[in-house]
Amino acid sequence: MSTWANLGLQDSASPLMEQLIFFHDHALLILVMITVLVGYLMFMLFFNNYVNRFLLHGQLIEMIWTILPAIILLFIALPSLRLLYLLDEINEPSVTLKSIGHQWYWSYEYSDFNNIEFDSYMIPTNELTIDGFRLLDVDNRVILPMNSQIRILVTAADVIHSWTVPALGVKVDGTPGRLNQTNFFINRPGLFYGQCSEICGANHSFMPIVIESVPVNYFIKWISSNNS
Ligand code: CUA
Repeated sequence: MSTWANLGLQDSASPLMEQLIFFHDHALLILVMITVLVGYLMFMLFFNNYVNRFLLHGQLIEMIWTILPAIILLFIALPSLRLLYLLDEINEPSVTLKSIGHQWYWSYEYSDFNNIEFDSYMIPTNELTIDGFRLLDVDNRVILPMNSQIRILVTAADVIHSWTVPALGVKVDGTPGRLNQTNFFINRPGLFYGQCSEICGANHSFMPIVIESVPVNYFIKWISSNNS
């Protein structure tokens, strides 16, 4: 999860988020190079006294500074497009989780397993235990198996919400009357925190998401203990 002074992206917990971080670093590097070059040119303009009274056109330089930025943009656009389609790919999911946004909590359904369903509310500050995270912990966590393809179906019951977990690279809008789908693969155990990221109303900041990623046999134990 994000903690103090952590201004960058969180550590990834899925291969897709890893790719998103690589793309972020790649785009940032290009941005820095452009900023340094343009900054240098603008700075140097203040100090030159050269005047060319006969300058009317410069075909060559205009060709260069038109085509070069277009090529640079391609180097951002093509990897971006690759990621976009990679994020949409569904790869034989072994678990399907349905998540429904409400004002102001999430409810979950495991339709593959005898329809386990529960609501997930934020724990209010005055009820927090010493090891709890304020505005981030919930009463019922989403338990998911690691090292498995997981499909998530997102919708909403009232207004638009957004199911967003940064460490997994997932951000899907829950829209009333629509069913959105995406998939992810958690590659390590742990707790992964997220928040609704669609401005959905007065208590928008109080509908967090907690994923508890566990080994597959633990997940099966949890599922069967809920079925009895
Ligand atoms: Cu739900 Cu913001």
